[in-house]
Amino acid sequence: MFTNPIPETQESAMSNAFACTRRAFVAGLAGAAVAGPLRAVEGLPKVTVTKDPSCGCCSGWVDHLKQAGFLLAVIETPEFNRVKTRLGVPKALAACHTGEAAGYVIEGHVPAMAIRRLLAEKPQATGLAVPGMPVGSPGMEVESMEPDTYDVVLFGPSGQRTFARYRGGQEA
Ligand code: CU
Ligand code: CU
Repeated sequence: MFTNPIPETQESAMSNAFACTRRAFVAGLAGAAVAGPLRAVEGLPKVTVTKDPSCGCCSGWVDHLKQAGFLLAVIETPEFNRVKTRLGVPKALAACHTGEAAGYVIEGHVPAMAIRRLLAEKPQATGLAVPGMPVGSPGMEVESMEPDTYDVVLFGPSGQRTFARYRGGQEA
């Protein structure tokens, strides 16, 4: 059994769980409407997602990626924050779930189209992040609320830059 020598701080685990649970309720309602034939698109890599077992918005994002043709593997663990540390996600960019695809890290509610562009352009970076939980981002749709405008951030050892800007599910 592998054990992580770095203890999870109680504080970060709690604040993250709170954010996810609070939003999961509304996102779960919207997510229930999403259904349809799921077919993996050839050439797209498998995305391995680590998520909190109690988080509904993460499941909404997983469904969004499946709809977009990605194959998904989902790992549920209450210690999901350790994955962020291991993969080098900066604290300021942390969201709920963390995905891994073709050597890139996908943190938070990143739209599938942005991931496809990342995989096509292959920039030198650790990955993409949508920090926080913007309303209207994939998996965070709330029917009665206007979608937020938010940045998809490309991050890595050499810094961060805006990779794309979205409003809800559409590029802004
Ligand atoms: Cu979330
Ligand atoms: Cu999530």
